[in-house]
Amino acid sequence: MSKVETRDVDYSRVQMTEIVLPEDTNTHGSVFGGRVLALIDKCAAAVAIRHARSGVLTLRLDSVEFRNPVHLGDILLLSGWVNAAFGSSMEIQVEVYSEEPTTGQKRLTTNAYVTMVGVGREGRPQKVPGLELQTDEERRRAEEAAVRRERRLNTPR
Ligand SMILES: CC(C)(COP(=O)(O)OP(=O)(O)OC[C@H]1O[C@@H](n2cnc3c(N)ncnc32)[C@H](O)[C@@H]1OP(=O)(O)O)[C@@H](O)C(=O)NCCC(=O)NCCS
Repeated sequence: MSKVETRDVDYSRVQMTEIVLPEDTNTHGSVFGGRVLALIDKCAAAVAIRHARSGVLTLRLDSVEFRNPVHLGDILLLSGWVNAAFGSSMEIQVEVYSEEPTTGQKRLTTNAYVTMVGVGREGRPQKVPGLELQTDEERRRAEEAAVRRERRLNTPR
């Protein structure tokens, strides 16, 4: 692990912006779910790399539901942050919004929880810095992440 023992949530926060292009869409003119999943994974990886300052691997992406279609030409906004850092693993939350280009109206498309693991050169798990919780919202998110983690660990793979 790096010599830093703890980092705050803002240290690793990531915002990503994409425009939906023709190659991202299906025959209905809305974005492929798999394209959004890839962006979620990329955003979560960037958050985890910043927090750990090491290599990271995606261990798990919890089920995601696409609530509103995203159309060709829409702007996609991804926002990612660390909810909790355990030993080698971290729960990263990624929210995805679409922005209609002419009105600027924003709608939540999906919310995802990604478990990323800090790894060393051999690709084996290694401890990541702890997370400094500074606000009530951060403490609530960390508590909820711990409950989700227990559930994941108790679910047979
Ligand atoms: C990620 C990987 C290195 C973890 O190795 P492992 O031997 O399975 O890991 P461990 O059992 O030591 O667990 C590592 C961490 O994951 C956590 N973990 C394990 N199973 C979990 C689950 N189902 N849900 C949440 N966390 C889990 C462990 O609790 C541990 O975290 P902690 O140190 O914070 O307690 C390994 O599974 C791997 O290489 N997977 C492939 C990753 C990959 O290629 N991803 C890209 C997509 S294909």
